[in-house]
Amino acid sequence: MSSSWCLNTLLIFRSSSHFTHSAKLRHVSRSVSYITKASKSVAINTDTVVANDESYGRKEVISVNPRLYDYLLANVREPKILRELREETATMRGSQMQVSPDQAQLLAMLVQILGAERCIELGVYTGYSSLAIALVLPEGGRLLACERDAKSLEVAKRYYDRAGVSGKVEVRHGLAADTLKSMIQNGEGSRPKKLGNYRHPRLTFSVLSLRDSNNSKQDILSSFYDFAFIDAEKKMYQEYFELLLQLVRVGGVIVFDNVLWHGKVADPLVNDPKTVSIRNFNKFLMEDARVSISMVPIGDGMTICRKI
Ligand SMILES: C[S@@+](CC[C@H](N)C(=O)[O-])C[C@H]1O[C@@H](n2cnc3c(N)ncnc32)[C@H](O)[C@@H]1O
Repeated sequence: MSSSWCLNTLLIFRSSSHFTHSAKLRHVSRSVSYITKASKSVAINTDTVVANDESYGRKEVISVNPRLYDYLLANVREPKILRELREETATMRGSQMQVSPDQAQLLAMLVQILGAERCIELGVYTGYSSLAIALVLPEGGRLLACERDAKSLEVAKRYYDRAGVSGKVEVRHGLAADTLKSMIQNGEGSRPKKLGNYRHPRLTFSVLSLRDSNNSKQDILSSFYDFAFIDAEKKMYQEYFELLLQLVRVGGVIVFDNVLWHGKVADPLVNDPKTVSIRNFNKFLMEDARVSISMVPIGDGMTICRKI
């Protein structure tokens, strides 16, 4: 047995005893062991270094093992209400689906850095990521939260209430793509509203609305979204992306979760429909000039896209 396989076995063993927070955390550690397995050919100096390739100037790239991940979690500022939601969700079916505390913290920080006021989430489940976003939205900020499962939405709504953010979250129960399509049909999105034409003897101008009757910032500006987090049906990512490009403003951010899909995307021998779909989507994003991208190995992998 090679040393890397020993290490791999060790990680799996440790993961089952270490991560008692939720199934998502156990799931994360499984993907860590997978990454270690995938990098068998790479010289591993310690249990965290996964690459120190010459072509990258011998930069030591590390992977997160259970001990390091515990350390990382100990440095996450998780609000009490989020911890309570995570712990309640841990007792429920599907708890492995909620994002990890470090992911939620990154999402919240992106929203803050952007100064986002209008956000969208696809795939709410019991509300962990949406609550993290809503908690940092300013007064008057809004999160449109789309979810097809009514039962898990009940938990989410209870926590929005408890956290005092119900007024900021608009829950849409239904299929995410249908919700996005109806938003676009209702005039939301990057196309400015046309109020009519102004006729000049030689020219016709389109009159675009910038302010509503209360003279507040409306219409053109408010029909854009600043931020979207996508965590619903994986096979629909490409369709969500095309719809969201119509709703998110230039400079706005769209984040996709699970882009490393338990590490399976990097294994050419794994070709189940979901893996292939995420792999194809990653390739598509890599070549899409409409966005700048950053794939981040956090949780199950997230790609941050900024609309150009
Ligand atoms: C990975 S979970 C979301 C986890 C959530 N972001 C969190 O941090 O707790 C995915 C959710 O998307 C929902 N979902 C899956 N397909 C959907 C679709 N087509 N439309 C709306 N929701 C969908 C599922 O019911 C599930 O609750």
